[in-house]
Amino acid sequence: MFGNDKMAKIFIGVAWPYANGTIHLGHMAGSILPPDIFNRYNRMKGNEVMMVSGSDQHGTPITVTAEKERTSPMDIAERFHEINKKAIEDMRIEFSLFTKTHTENHTETVHDIFRVLSEKDLLYEKETMQYFCPKCSRFLPDRYVEGVCPKCGAENTRSDQCDACGTTFETGDLKEAVCVHCGTPPEIRGTNHFFLRLSSFTDDLLDYLKDKTYWRSNVETFTSNWLKDGLKDRPITRDMSWGIPVPAEGWDDKVIYVWFEAVVGYLSASKEYSALIGEPGLWRQYWYDGDVRHYYFLGKDNIPFHSIIWPSMLMGYGPLNLPYDIPANEYLMFRGGKLSKSRGGSIDIPSVLQKYDADVVRYYLSAVMPDTHDSDFSWEDFQVKVNNDLVSALGNFYHRCLSFTKRNFNSVPDALDGTELAEVTAEIRRTMEEYETYMNGCDFKKALKAVMDLSRYGNRYFDSKKPWALVKEDKDKCGEAMNASLQIVKALAAMAWPFMPDSSERIWKFLGLERTPLDEGMGSCTVPLQVGTELPEPVPVYAKVELPKEEPEKKVETPAENTAVTGPFADMRRLDIRTAEVLEVTEHPDAEKLYVLKIDAGEERQLVAGLRAHYTKEELTGRKILVVCNLKHAKLRGVMSQGMLLAADDEELGGNTVAVLRPSKDVPNGTRFTCGLDIIGKEMEYKDFQKAVIRISSTASGQTAVVKDGTEAIDLSDGNGCIAVVDRQLKDGAKVR
Ligand code: MF3
Ligand code: ZN
Repeated sequence: MFGNDKMAKIFIGVAWPYANGTIHLGHMAGSILPPDIFNRYNRMKGNEVMMVSGSDQHGTPITVTAEKERTSPMDIAERFHEINKKAIEDMRIEFSLFTKTHTENHTETVHDIFRVLSEKDLLYEKETMQYFCPKCSRFLPDRYVEGVCPKCGAENTRSDQCDACGTTFETGDLKEAVCVHCGTPPEIRGTNHFFLRLSSFTDDLLDYLKDKTYWRSNVETFTSNWLKDGLKDRPITRDMSWGIPVPAEGWDDKVIYVWFEAVVGYLSASKEYSALIGEPGLWRQYWYDGDVRHYYFLGKDNIPFHSIIWPSMLMGYGPLNLPYDIPANEYLMFRGGKLSKSRGGSIDIPSVLQKYDADVVRYYLSAVMPDTHDSDFSWEDFQVKVNNDLVSALGNFYHRCLSFTKRNFNSVPDALDGTELAEVTAEIRRTMEEYETYMNGCDFKKALKAVMDLSRYGNRYFDSKKPWALVKEDKDKCGEAMNASLQIVKALAAMAWPFMPDSSERIWKFLGLERTPLDEGMGSCTVPLQVGTELPEPVPVYAKVELPKEEPEKKVETPAENTAVTGPFADMRRLDIRTAEVLEVTEHPDAEKLYVLKIDAGEERQLVAGLRAHYTKEELTGRKILVVCNLKHAKLRGVMSQGMLLAADDEELGGNTVAVLRPSKDVPNGTRFTCGLDIIGKEMEYKDFQKAVIRISSTASGQTAVVKDGTEAIDLSDGNGCIAVVDRQLKDGAKVR
């Protein structure tokens, strides 16, 4: 029944992450880890898999980041490609090839498709209306225009698509549109573009979708919503210089739209991989042989590009194999905000892997995978699930079986007449059946649960045999039970391998097995262990995780003012920080980045703050803020500023968020934030203020401002339970200034 199905070829496409930032847990849980699990599972089943992806290096996500960092798009695209390629490898994701879109091979493949579609009259030229910023004097690509979604009212919505409700827009649809550069409402002007004749694919698409009854409901819904609205032809060129050139005369100032070319990456990467391994024709088997199923893994905002546009392109060009399934995931939410690097708030893979093993992270992400609903990520939940499930159920079962057997038998004990082995094998088979059904349907969370349930069965089985007593009464009987227990260990490690490959392989070594679960295949779950095989000394493969401790409201011993001690806490003691309320906001008459704020900080004051690019007047008016009140008063561009408002920004960490700090509780204006320190609070210069290093850190009470001194940390607080918090998700470590 197991392991002898007909061998098949499977193609797996994984959405190409933009190379404009470091990939984070959201990418992993959403689109990168699931295909790796599926890939490993299929290879264990004896199938051949080609799995490709790469860095999406073009488009406005890259140019926006490059402008922000004052560097070239190429620099950004290459830098993050290298970082992300390594992060993916470190997470033990095994692509056939993880390449990038800024290559000759990709450009050639895109141009080939462009030409074929043009010849078939599926591409045509047309004048279009487009956002044009009069102030920046240029046409604005989609992402350079933001406003309010006309359908669902979501704010800060890009002009091409609403992340919240999935609606896609035409130029002019977006309400309250502004140029993200300068805040000017853009004009709409005419310019020429190539269009994909998407409208002509409606019938073919309906036909293609007919038997896709097994698609996830989110994919089905997004796709049929698009079709319901009627397919409109879509422009596939853009007014920018960074990207794949348009293969036509006189189009030097435009490039091919990033989405049109990025999806072609699936095909170009297949070719590149085939050439790389010396089988240049291999990709043809995957793309032309109708038996090869194509799976695409992605986040929900990518659905229509894979369920409508890419299939249309393939039908028009091809016919090449179309997507068989598109198991798109919802979002992994980090304290309420979408875990997306372009909207701030990320937990990037390199930092995560500095603290935790890849397998442990893979376990948690699999357990909370947002497959049918958005799911919440928190480090507290991570700790609970790892410690209570992974370590206590699976890890504990592995270790008690292996160490008990090693200690008392030193090798795989005899199964006697095999009664015990038959009993547990029946349970293993039941689990495998469930597991395989889930895995085949890309229901990974449930498959993992089946594995964890088997480990709980194993623990119950072990307890019921009381081997610690049995070994004294009847050592052979005990050996029989341990032989059966080790069989469960083997099956668990085999089924867990797609999820947690490293630790599973280590467990197999502890069983005295020379090869790996991949070598032996899924059928090995029920293949008995070789009696008499010597067992190596086992060590636990999972350890409990401990989150860094918070030390809130800690009263820190500080030296008197005149002692010559320096350090972060000493620098803090010089700051006179108070709570305040913004009474009125006006624009600075001579500086386009500055606001002038009237505030009540116990007494009325006037501040000048560089927040115009980040906050509207409405967002600031009435807001509770924190202000450094003992800075020497200074004129900023001619306007007096009597203090400084505290805000944090994560730009030096690669983010783009600025967040104003506010007190966590409603305390009277003018309440002093002493941090429990003995504040000195004499008038000080701005450069002295800069010495105080306050950073944003995620804690149980949200993101708060913290001052660290060596291993000690204190919250910015009134010393009475009111702390400094932010409302916008920042990268941890963002600096308060
Ligand atoms: N870079 C896109 C994103 O992160 C995904 C591109 S998927 C591809 O949303 F198919 F177009 F490559
Ligand atoms: Zn502008």
